[in-house]
Amino acid sequence: MLYSTSHRFSIAPMLDWTDRHCRYFHRLMTQRTLLYTEMVTTGAILHGRADHLLFSEQEHPIALQLGGSNAVELAECAKIAAARGYDEINLNVGCPSDRVQNGRFGACLMASASLVADCVKAMQDVVDIPVTVKHRIGIDDLDSYEFLCEFIETVKASGCHQFIVHARKAWLSGLSPKENREIPPLDYERVYQLKRDYPELQISINGGITTIADCIEHLKHVDGVMVGREAYQNPFMLAEVDGFIFQDSPCSLSRHDVVEQMIPYIEAHLASGGSLSHITRHMLGLFQGVVGARAWRRHLSENANKKGAGIDVLRQALAFVESAG
Ligand SMILES: Cc1cc2nc3c(=O)[nH]c(=O)nc-3n(C[C@H](O)[C@H](O)[C@H](O)COP(=O)(O)O)c2cc1C
Repeated sequence: MLYSTSHRFSIAPMLDWTDRHCRYFHRLMTQRTLLYTEMVTTGAILHGRADHLLFSEQEHPIALQLGGSNAVELAECAKIAAARGYDEINLNVGCPSDRVQNGRFGACLMASASLVADCVKAMQDVVDIPVTVKHRIGIDDLDSYEFLCEFIETVKASGCHQFIVHARKAWLSGLSPKENREIPPLDYERVYQLKRDYPELQISINGGITTIADCIEHLKHVDGVMVGREAYQNPFMLAEVDGFIFQDSPCSLSRHDVVEQMIPYIEAHLASGGSLSHITRHMLGLFQGVVGARAWRRHLSENANKKGAGIDVLRQALAFVESAG
């Protein structure tokens, strides 16, 4: 799958949300979008018991987001991921959670630009795929445009050319991660300014973007748009992305077709001992705005996690939205 232009539209890394099942589901509605994994820490890859790098071939183009700040470990993980076929490695410099701060990575790394640069360089030295950075416009009182430019310039000097900028700063203490996605005000103009000042860089904008029309507007100022919560909560918006954003063949599937196409994947998951809800929890928003959507959502929420729940539960839920396209 084409990677080179895929950053024009991407779905944000979201912990506990953009797992492999979610990405497979999203991919049915858009062939061109760049999909991000949830953040995976270097510790989980190097020392964890589970395989956190599993993905289906259909998910390409796919970027792995890494959480960490040890250059040697990040390089080791990047090497493993590249060998597994990931199309991009992204470093998380935007997450403000306490857990992440205790590990000295995520958003607090914005105050250590040279460490970020060292980490990026260490990864770039061992892989041929792009290494990108997702960050905020600032943290705490380090929120001037000059600070942001210094960060960008330091990291750019390591050879990084792609930055995904969440257009709000993060407060490292006092706000929960959820509040840090809502309370600090969005400043899109600051991200546009970055693109004007560093035209040689690929700049993607993120934060609070909810419609395809808004994406198209942002793309007049920056190279890419990353959408998180709206793509997850209203996934059928993705059916418009290939046509309107990539000017490629539009998605021809209806919402029902998407469900039908999920069935073989779900059956394989059930056959391997997995639970229906592992997959259907990502599909709850599919019929948003359609008559019967609440009943669809409720039926799946209440029944998909029951022992032995199978495709019949999905079909029953589908009956609530029978005539919807
Ligand atoms: C449930 C959830 C989990 C998230 N996990 C991550 C993560 O693992 N890595 C990351 O860089 N950002 C994470 N984010 C932040 C998103 O990537 C994104 O920057 C943020 O939600 C703003 O974009 P949006 O307004 O389009 O949702 C998460 C957001 C949510 C809602």
